[in-house]
Amino acid sequence: MKTAVFDTKPYDIPAFERFGNENGVTFIYYETKLNERTVSLANGCEAVCVFVNDTVNAAVIDELADLGVRTIALRCAGYNNVDIAHAKGKIKVVRVPAYSPYAVAEHAMAMLLTSVRRIHKAFIRTRDFNFSLNGLTGFDLHGRTVGIIGTGKIGRVFGDICRGFGMKVIAYDKYPDNSGKIEYVPLDVLFEQSDIISFHCPLTAETYHTLNAENIQKLRKGVVIINTSRGALIDAEALLEGIKSRRIGAACLDVYEEEADFFFKDLSGHIMGDDVLARLISMPNVIVTSHQAFLTEEALSNIAETTVDNIVKLHNGEKCKNELTTE
Ligand code: NAI
Repeated sequence: MKTAVFDTKPYDIPAFERFGNENGVTFIYYETKLNERTVSLANGCEAVCVFVNDTVNAAVIDELADLGVRTIALRCAGYNNVDIAHAKGKIKVVRVPAYSPYAVAEHAMAMLLTSVRRIHKAFIRTRDFNFSLNGLTGFDLHGRTVGIIGTGKIGRVFGDICRGFGMKVIAYDKYPDNSGKIEYVPLDVLFEQSDIISFHCPLTAETYHTLNAENIQKLRKGVVIINTSRGALIDAEALLEGIKSRRIGAACLDVYEEEADFFFKDLSGHIMGDDVLARLISMPNVIVTSHQAFLTEEALSNIAETTVDNIVKLHNGEKCKNELTTE
């Protein structure tokens, strides 16, 4: 069960080696991303293992199938970068639907607290022995309204954390749950009533630019936007304009619309080619992390364990509940 792993980072390898060795899966690690130019590296492999910014379009899928690859194993939950419809009947696609909703939800809260209590500013000041508090005034989360878009595994955990802080939680989900535990409101109402808005829905054609220039006008002045889901849920240029106009009070972004060219790389010695990202990062009230929300030891272990299990199940011709290409 030879598997080519694309876009490999050093922190991926230990858990993949552990679970691979235990289950007879041999991983070959490539730092490069999967795309039309690199697909031939999968030659001789039964499976490929890909991440959020690999390109798995129709051309790549056809080439993989021609090379004899039988499985595309996503080591993530979201699959907006894979042409699932095209893969059906050609190659099986599996994913890791859940590995630690706590990792992502806790990161969203970490960013929110950092932002509203200006921890990112205080950290830099005190390292320079600047103990002034001027400009560091935050606000209490207690009593504030948080609007959660997408109440799946991560959105729910984030809601629980917010309730623990004494916040009022309202939510929008295209498929609301009927437990009665969550107060659902229409999206417009969520935009109008929330002091904090956190995105936890998948990126689809329907959710593309859920936050855009038009509905930014409906937001409460000073609203904090958190996105740990997928960058293109938000129109980044409109977000920037919303910040410049002071309508948006702060943004906490773990994902960015055009992140594939930048995130996960050390570009510190380079000229930043994306003006919108550069301008966002220059803002005192914007915090950017580079798709880091999943990155806990527990999540990495769960990702590797489920990925190996998915590959082994398909290799053995068994049914796999994580397959996305079933009819
Ligand atoms: P999930 O599948 O458990 O929940 C997604 C929720 O979104 C569901 O309740 C679904 O009904 C809802 N939804 C679907 N279409 C919608 C629409 N048009 N409008 C509003 N809601 C809609 O997924 P989970 O595990 O909670 O993950 C959420 C997202 O988080 C993933 O799609 C992924 O993009 C992102 N993610 C980001 C990570 C990171 O490291 N930053 C790590 C893991 C996931």
